Amino acid sequence: MEVFFEIHQDIPKESPGGDEYTRQAFQMLPQLYQPNILDIGCGPGAQTLELARLTDGHITAIDTHQPFLDRLQSQAIELDFLNQITCLNQSMFDLSFPEATFDLLWAEGSMYIIGLEQGLKQWHSLIKPGGYLVVSELVWLQSQPPKTIQTFWQENYPEMRTLEEVLILIPSCGYELIGHFTLPAKAWWNYYLPLQANINYLCEKYNNNSEILAIIKNEQLEIEMYREYHDWYGYEFFALQKSFSG
Ligand SMILES: C[S@@+](CC[C@H](N)C(=O)[O-])C[C@H]1O[C@@H](n2cnc3c(N)ncnc32)[C@H](O)[C@@H]1O
Repeated sequence: MEVFFEIHQDIPKESPGGDEYTRQAFQMLPQLYQPNILDIGCGPGAQTLELARLTDGHITAIDTHQPFLDRLQSQAIELDFLNQITCLNQSMFDLSFPEATFDLLWAEGSMYIIGLEQGLKQWHSLIKPGGYLVVSELVWLQSQPPKTIQTFWQENYPEMRTLEEVLILIPSCGYELIGHFTLPAKAWWNYYLPLQANINYLCEKYNNNSEILAIIKNEQLEIEMYREYHDWYGYEFFALQKSFSG
């Protein structure tokens, strides 16, 4: 785990994306007045800060990795967002907020940890009636992908669905789809290029440690897979509204 966090240390974003895509996703929603927002699995918090720029609301940012929360907290102080952002060390599996607390749940590149279906169902009650959930999720964009990439994601994210399967799942979990879009390659490289720099550095640092090198190589493999097979899968942003009936 320590090596994992060393590989992921000090990179601006922990999933494919970027401020412009956080904005694009937010703009799928109708105008919200002083929304109460929960940013789940906030990581280093690039999207938290962008949400603070986009709204006059309050954002509670939760994560279980304290260094990410510390980093976000200092940026919130530096950028004068402390009145808008609260950082909390809390697990997405066990969110301790009363029912109907939030106007908007935001899960950028993080819902896969609890699982898409479980997250949609378990977090549903936290949203106010008619409130919103925005999630970005890894999906297959084409059917029958080559065996190599199918096996890679089967091993790394066995629950990965096709885009069509996600679109079917959404209403069955009590939400209506407002809109969705696929992140372009630029969003992936926003994530992978800083990660690649860390990988290069750590390969040299640990060149005598085969156990650590094996972990680093798996991260490298994910980047190689994207380079080769990016047409087959993607990160999809979905904007959902909690169904009034559900
Ligand atoms: C792929 S990163 C995405 C981070 C951020 N949303 C972004 O897009 O940059 C997933 C985040 O979920 C956090 N995480 C892992 N397990 C968690 C849990 N049980 N509860 C809350 N956050 C968790 C990790 O520490 C990490 O910051």
